[in-house]
Amino acid sequence: MDAPKEIFLKDYKSPDYYFDTVDLRFSLGEEKTIVASKITVFPRVEGSSAPLVLDGVDLKLISIKVDGKELKEGDYHLDSRHLTLPSPPQGKFTLEIDTEIQPQNNTSLEGLYKSSGNFCTQCEAEGFRKITFYQDRPDIMAKYTCRIEADKLLYPVLLSNGNLIEQGTFEGGKHYAVWEDPFKKPCYLFALVAGQLESRDDTFVTRSGRKVALRIWTPAQDVPKTAHAMYSLKAAMKWDEDVFGLEYDLDLFNVVAVPDFNMGAMENKSLNIFNSKLVLASPETASDADYAAILGVIGHEYFHNWTGNRVTCRDWFQLSLKEGLTVFRDQEFSSDMGSRTVKRIADVSKLRNYQFPQDAGPMAHPVRPHSYIKMDNFYTVTVYEKGAEVVRMYKTLLGTQGFRKGMDLYFKRHDGQAVTCEDFFAAMKDANGVDFANFLLWYSQAGTPVVKVTSSYNAEAHTFSLKFSQEVPPTPGQPVKEPMFIPVAVGLLDSSGKDMILSSVYHNGTLQSVASNNQPVLSTVLRVTKKEEEFVFCDIFERPIPSLLRGYSAPVRLESDLSDSDLFFLLAHDSDEFNRWESGQVLARKLMLSLVADFQQSKPLTLNPKFVQGLKSILCDPSLDKEFIAKAITLPGEGEIMDMMEVADPDAVHAVRTFIRKELASQLKSEFLSTVENNRSSEEYVFDHPNMSGRALKNTALAYLGSLEDTEITELALHEYKTATNMTDQFAALSAISQKPGKTRDDVLADFYTKWQHNYLVVNKWFALQAMSNIPGNVENVRKLLNHPAFDLRNPNKVYSLIGGFCGSPVNFHAKDGSGYKFLGEIVLQLDKLNPQVASRMVSAFSRWRRFDESRQTLAKQQLETIMSANGLSENVFEIALKSLA
Ligand code: ARG
Ligand code: ZN
Repeated sequence: MDAPKEIFLKDYKSPDYYFDTVDLRFSLGEEKTIVASKITVFPRVEGSSAPLVLDGVDLKLISIKVDGKELKEGDYHLDSRHLTLPSPPQGKFTLEIDTEIQPQNNTSLEGLYKSSGNFCTQCEAEGFRKITFYQDRPDIMAKYTCRIEADKLLYPVLLSNGNLIEQGTFEGGKHYAVWEDPFKKPCYLFALVAGQLESRDDTFVTRSGRKVALRIWTPAQDVPKTAHAMYSLKAAMKWDEDVFGLEYDLDLFNVVAVPDFNMGAMENKSLNIFNSKLVLASPETASDADYAAILGVIGHEYFHNWTGNRVTCRDWFQLSLKEGLTVFRDQEFSSDMGSRTVKRIADVSKLRNYQFPQDAGPMAHPVRPHSYIKMDNFYTVTVYEKGAEVVRMYKTLLGTQGFRKGMDLYFKRHDGQAVTCEDFFAAMKDANGVDFANFLLWYSQAGTPVVKVTSSYNAEAHTFSLKFSQEVPPTPGQPVKEPMFIPVAVGLLDSSGKDMILSSVYHNGTLQSVASNNQPVLSTVLRVTKKEEEFVFCDIFERPIPSLLRGYSAPVRLESDLSDSDLFFLLAHDSDEFNRWESGQVLARKLMLSLVADFQQSKPLTLNPKFVQGLKSILCDPSLDKEFIAKAITLPGEGEIMDMMEVADPDAVHAVRTFIRKELASQLKSEFLSTVENNRSSEEYVFDHPNMSGRALKNTALAYLGSLEDTEITELALHEYKTATNMTDQFAALSAISQKPGKTRDDVLADFYTKWQHNYLVVNKWFALQAMSNIPGNVENVRKLLNHPAFDLRNPNKVYSLIGGFCGSPVNFHAKDGSGYKFLGEIVLQLDKLNPQVASRMVSAFSRWRRFDESRQTLAKQQLETIMSANGLSENVFEIALKSLA
């Protein structure tokens, strides 16, 4: 293998050649597959004589023709990654290449591969080069036709992008289909599926009257489980019309569910391919969280048709142009379909628990990275989730209508093009004629800004001042940062807990009115752009309690001078529901950190009664949304707390979180019991907010109760387990029971497996639950499960459940004796031989090793070094291990 090469954004060059049309012919076989391509090529600059360099990996070249004439060895150059024509003809020409590939041996699940006997593809980011020689980069956009030929019995269904224009059968049991995609596309959106599949069919009539056939394909026995995915698809199509005026543009939309898939799903033009986990659901087998994820991801991939496909990325550094924007769109869609506040809380939690640690570690990178070795390593929470926060800030600054104007202009300017993040920025700016100052820094500076706020009230002048300072921490390659443009949404509460009416703000030597035409203004967005900056609210007639960063208006760490009693006040009264939750979280984080210090000094732990009281009043407030209550009484995760410590101490954090949970459970036992009693599910499962809220609250209460050593509770949990009529409740009861080691736990886990052994998606939940267990020495159990007949290292979902689940459990993964690290080190090397993308995701669990004490550091570092020294390491794992050790 050649030495891994780092690729830089600053080195981007337009291609020397473009492709106009691409005709592909696949002959699918058991031993080998033949791919014949015919491409019309033209130079970017008339008369150019630059070499044409095609990407190609793991391909066997059979023949190559230029304008119908076969090339001989010496007319071209072939190495392990490229096929080069040193002097192609001038002007337009046709290039025909035949290649042989072996999808049946492709365990990387990238390119063309087999999943459960069916053929399928995954080309993003750079998988097309494993199918045929091509300029595998997104700024090459061409019109495709695709002819697929295969055995008719084994592969009765043959699908590709666009419209089916021809099909037929041969003697000898073969058949074929020809697909034509009328839209130009980059090769990463190419897809092919061939196999034994059946579909759920429906139709959607677009608002201009186009009748679209919708088909969701799975193996026959799973078709009944696609109803929710179909519902989600139709809802997404309608939503995009209503909210963004965007219609679907073809007469057919296919979704295929496959059990072996590296990620969630893929937005190939008119042929979305999904991990079956994100399509298949029935009340008995899928939880509310699964239903919500399906809604969000079906929406996400559908929304890509405009944000990603019609307008795509110039190069992979621009990934967030489509992903940040499309995540933002799917978040908004899910909000509109359920509860906006609850969705916002879930998204911010995800950002804090996963993106903040990434942004503070060795893999920290900007929303638009400056360089990569392997692009697959940059499908990250930073590009996706922080990228979505960046898009959200445009909307916060411009308002709903201004944002829509920007989107409209973006499509008007760039439909059919491959563009950059600046193009998106320019559309937002030009459509609204506004000054965005240094907003673009959000794309280029990594690290989570720390924003400090201090407040003061002047009773004589009736003014209230907020002084901001900001600091962006250094990240790899970026030691010094500039101040960012941070929109801070603010409201001020009076002593009765109501929002004060805001009139004007004094800032930068001028008085700015915040009043609007006829509505009283209760919340305003301050534009913080400097290292230090003051805003003074005028006409404030009593000392207010400020509600800061409402709705989490910017992805920053906010440190305010609010006292505990201010926070309790906001928890009880803030009209911004997100900030009510947030105040509770700030209090909980403070409490947990101080108890961690006590624990480390071997002081006895005691729980502040005000905290218990605060949670109790939330738990027992009938006016609150039940899912909101469930979120508000849930403590910040162990990862979040470890991330706030100088030296992360997993044992102390776990001990403290367990202590608080138990203490709350015993002090609020009767409240939790009646919460369970009063929120049992109705017989029939309904996926809507009121029903899901009830289940969420009941199961959160049950989880608290499960932390008690109490036979009455064990009986209750067993009863819930046995009487559950849906997976949400059944799994919640199983989880409550499995908190404590013992015979009951073993019996119920065994019972659950027996019940569900024929459903691999449910079995994965069973793997994950055991893998994440905090039971001491759990690594041994996880090692045993590796040999369980239902486990398979080749299937990414199983790896994510068992290995990923284990690495997400701080106590056992970070076990002092290094047993968790050793386990992961071994697995990464085994996995890397099979599937580098999956191995690379797993090795990332080591990347924060420097956050721990010295003895853990030594143990984790040893594993990383062993991995680095392995022979034939993939570029994927190499990049993560290298950067982690740097
Ligand atoms: N574009 C896909 C999405 O909808 C994800 C593709 C991920 N590819 C990868 N190599 N990790 O988000
Ligand atoms: Zn996406």
